[in-house]
This record gives sequence, structure tokens and C-alpha cells, in this order.
Amino acid sequence: MSERQSIPERLGHDFLRALYHLISTVRIYQDNNQLVRTSVSSFQNMLNELTISGDISLSLYRSRFHIGEEKLRYRRDAAIVVYNMVEFFSKRGIGSVNFLESSRDALPEKIMTFTRLFNDAIRHENPHQWLEQKLREQNCSWVQIFPRQDEDATVDSESLKDKRYEKARKNYFLAIEAVKEVANKVSQGMVGVRRSRRLAQNIVDIVKEDAALMIGLTTLKGYDDYTYAHSVNVALLATCLGKHIELSDISLEHLTICGLFHDLGKVDVPKKILLKHGVLTDGEWDLLKAHPVMGVRKILMLNATPSLRSRIILGPFEHHLNPDMTGYPRTLFMGHMSLMGKILRIADVYEALTAERGYRPRSFLPDEALRMMWGSAGKSFDTILLKRFIHMMGIYPIGSVVELSDGNIGLVMDYPDETERTLPLVLLLVNDEKGGWQSGEMVYLADQNIKDGSGRLNIVRGIPLAKIRINPSDFFLHSM
Ligand SMILES: [Fe+2]
Ligand SMILES: [Fe+2]
Repeated sequence: MSERQSIPERLGHDFLRALYHLISTVRIYQDNNQLVRTSVSSFQNMLNELTISGDISLSLYRSRFHIGEEKLRYRRDAAIVVYNMVEFFSKRGIGSVNFLESSRDALPEKIMTFTRLFNDAIRHENPHQWLEQKLREQNCSWVQIFPRQDEDATVDSESLKDKRYEKARKNYFLAIEAVKEVANKVSQGMVGVRRSRRLAQNIVDIVKEDAALMIGLTTLKGYDDYTYAHSVNVALLATCLGKHIELSDISLEHLTICGLFHDLGKVDVPKKILLKHGVLTDGEWDLLKAHPVMGVRKILMLNATPSLRSRIILGPFEHHLNPDMTGYPRTLFMGHMSLMGKILRIADVYEALTAERGYRPRSFLPDEALRMMWGSAGKSFDTILLKRFIHMMGIYPIGSVVELSDGNIGLVMDYPDETERTLPLVLLLVNDEKGGWQSGEMVYLADQNIKDGSGRLNIVRGIPLAKIRINPSDFFLHSM
């Protein structure tokens, strides 16, 4: 290959995207389809640009694409394209595709043939050998393919995902145990916060690395003691919102601890009040309303430095206050809420509305909860923060089950593109005919204008979890 200049970021990224679109359209449509023709021509344009000074190779090494010798740089919004292409290459055992300079003269029909063969290779025992032979038979000499060298790279990337998931899951349960321990022991004497603090640091690290994974974890169901799971979920949601508005690491850590401890005062509220079905009596209501103040008392009893204590008191004290200072506890000495309090308030209400609890017949769907909360923006919630929260969660938050415009059912996995908050990455759910669901294809709605010639694939509505009977976190975590 002749010496070439560094490939601009945009070009590498666009090339991979063009190949991805080509592969997806060819899989769905016949050769004479307009979308296929458009994808072929945009792929060829990219190829022409790249092969201007010689052959070009697209290779996968250790789960990263390289163009020529250079590692492909891509924008955050291309993450899903890269993810799918890594899968595509890996499943076929292909390590590298070389487009020779002569590919500039390849006919569109030949490009389609190559793409179809590349797609079909997966159905054959030795995809690489089969593909090589087919390309020879079809006279596609302008393209060469090479098998994957770093056999263990697939395992690497898989185990990396598994490790990240395991780390998140482990920290989630450890956090539940930590809150439980603090809650149970704090009344009997001093309890240290070292463990909670370390967990908070881990949680902040994971949120910074993969907030979607953490939001997914909050959909874990069936934990025996809701109060503690609620506290951890609130901590995770609050931390994600904190990260979304770019708080510093140390503020995020304090926010996580605030979330973990925000309902510590509920330890003193009898369970029968916490779990009561009907309307509370005045006396019961007074007891319940005392929990933020009781919580502050408990935080003061923690064995923590005065500076840490002072930073984690306000949020839990304020989490049932409204920005106009109505709500509880009534206070005359404060004129406005702290940022931590406002964030906790949003995370707390959202969690409480969407959580499935034994004593409540039906929880709200994430989109219903957000709409409801938006209805009292400004009054019950800080408008700007709530807007950011909705933006962060997406209209259909991660973990929502949705019906798509083509009738398919899917699970919202992520919003890979910060600017496209209505078009998530969706994992299609396939009915296994036994009343259960299995994970199907992953579709990225922002890319799906190609799927349905008449328009975009959209979300039509949310589906109550009770109706479909799945535990989103199962799919979430295993298909990542
Ligand atoms: Fe509370
Ligand atoms: Fe709460």
C-alpha cells in the first residue's frame, strides 16, 4: 500500500457507517430497491475517497477497527454502528477486508454481490473460507478478506462487557447491603461510612463510564426489601443526573451518598405505615413526614468527618420539599433548596412512581411518570433540572418496553446519540411461543429510516411491564 496521509476522523467514521448501512439495507431489500441503490452509491463515494492513493484495509483488532494502520476514531454517536460492525465481523471470523484500488471501478451490482455474500457467510460452517471462495467465483477480485488473527479478542471484548456488568451488579447489591447495615446499626451507636463512601466512589466511576448500564440496573425487580433497593436506585438516578449536568467527581460522590442515605429516617417509621394500602391517618402522616428530619439526626450520628457530614445533610433533609419551599419538613430558616435537594427530589419521585411494589396494584410506566412529573414542573420540581432529567432518560427511558410502528416489541437499551433523545437503541423482543420472550435483533431507531421505506421506525407507545411479564434488567445486562 502506498504511503498515505492520516485519515480524517469524519472519513473513517463515515466509511464504517456507510458499510453498516449497506449491509443493513441489502439484508432487508432486493437489489432493485431505491434504498439499496442509494446505500451502494454512498458507500462507493466513500470508497473512492479512501482509495484515492491506493488500497485500503478495514481491519478489526482487539475490538477496535483500523483503517490502514490507523486506529479508527469515531464519535460517541457512532458507538452503536461500531458495536454492530464489531459483532458482524466477529461472528463471521473476519479480521480484515482489503479494498484494492481497483474497487474504484467495481460495478454497483458487484458491490451488492459482495455485501450479500458477506451477510450470508454467517450461515456457513467456515464463513471466511466460504466467503473467499464465493468472491473468487463471482470475480470480485477488487476485495480481499482475511480471517481474524486475534482469536481471543472476541472473548476479550465479551468478558470485558461481562466484567463491567458484574462490577455494576456487585456494587448495586453491595450498596443495598451497606445501606441496610447503616440503617440497622445507626440507632445503636456510631457507624462508619467508609464502606458506603467506597461504594459511592465505585458507583460514580461506573456512572461515568456507562450511565445506561446503571439506569438499567434500577429496573432490577424482586429485591426483598424495597426501602433499600429504592435508596440505591435513587442514588443511581441522582448520580446519573449529576453526571448529566456535569457535576464534579467529588460532588457526584456526595450526591451518591445523599441518595443512599436519603430515607434513613424511615427506619423509625413503622413498616405498617410505610406499606399501608389506604389513606394515612393524621397521626400516621405526621410520623411519615418526620422521616427527613429523623434522617438528618441519623446522618449526624454517623462516624464521618464533619466536612463530609455537612455535605450530605442538606439533600436528605430537603428531598420532600418543593422549590417554592412547600412540602415537608416546613422550615422558616431556609429560602431556597440546594442543588442536591432538587436532584434528589426528582430521582426520588421518579423512582417511587415507577417502582413495582407488592402493595400497589400498578406502577407507572416510565413515560407516564415523566409526563406526570412534567405536569408539576416549577411547582414540585425545578424546571431546568427536570428538563435535563427527561432529556437524560429519553421520553421512553432506558428499560422501557415499547411497541414500534412495525408492530414489533422492544426494550429501550440506550440513547447513543446525545442529540437524538427520541430515537433510542432498541433490543427487539421475540415471543418464544411459551409465554416468554427472548432477545432478538438490536435496532437503532436513529438509523432506521432505512428499515421502512415509507418513513422512520418509531415508538408508538409504552407497554406496561405487567402485561408483557419480563424483567427488563435480564435482557439489558445480557445483551449488552
Ligand atoms: Fe423520603
Ligand atoms: Fe425516598
